[in-house]
Amino acid sequence: MTDPDAALSRHTDYGAESLDEADFGGDPLVAFHSWLTEAAARGVYEPNAMVLSTIGEDGIPSSRTVLLRGVDADGLVFYTDRSSRKGRALAAHPVATLLFPWYALHRQVIVTGDVTEVSDAESDAYWASRPLGSRIAGTASRQSQPIASRGELESRVHELEVLHHGDEDVPRPERWGGYRVRPWRVEFWQGRTSRLHDRLVFTRDREAPGGWTIQRLQP
Ligand SMILES: Cc1cc2nc3c(=O)[nH]c(=O)nc-3n(C[C@H](O)[C@H](O)[C@H](O)COP(=O)(O)O)c2cc1C
Repeated sequence: MTDPDAALSRHTDYGAESLDEADFGGDPLVAFHSWLTEAAARGVYEPNAMVLSTIGEDGIPSSRTVLLRGVDADGLVFYTDRSSRKGRALAAHPVATLLFPWYALHRQVIVTGDVTEVSDAESDAYWASRPLGSRIAGTASRQSQPIASRGELESRVHELEVLHHGDEDVPRPERWGGYRVRPWRVEFWQGRTSRLHDRLVFTRDREAPGGWTIQRLQP
């Protein structure tokens, strides 16, 4: 049997890949996009999964995984139930950190930025692209609210399936939609041998985003 404690004392020596200022152009979102493409090409499981950290109404941080659904010059987009715990946190503190844990590549990217809701048109378009089952589940589930039993949730799903039987047109609940994280800090981390890792951080003015500054940080 595998010793579970062995997992806590492993010392993996990371690979020979390096990260050089010259590898990246001046825009970390372009660089992020190419790392994401590479993660997918190199077989990372769910390469668009990211850990979203928010600050609650009570000032306490919380984290959970969500899927990245869009990235462009304006930022990174994910979709969720805005009445959820994270939605309430974002209403109180519209700022977030996203962490992409690409362990198999000895890489991580950490993105921090201000958060805004995407437009209704954008949320509608993404909602319409989801499979019917996901739209029914998203309608049935009041994310982060307690429920007495799984049976209650399943019967709600069943009622919606009957209601929408043969009908693809399940409307997007008002509480469901996207958020865009507009970064002012993006850190790229590449594991290197003997813990001499590479860290490059891009920052820009939070209030008046313009050009990016790049710095190397000690590992
Ligand atoms: C791989 C993975 C992907 C997920 N993607 C999403 C997502 O895109 N949107 C979402 O609302 N929840 C997603 N979840 C569920 C969240 O981690 C979380 O349980 C849920 O959003 C409720 O979080 P909250 O109570 O902090 O608001 C995902 C979970 C996993 C493990």
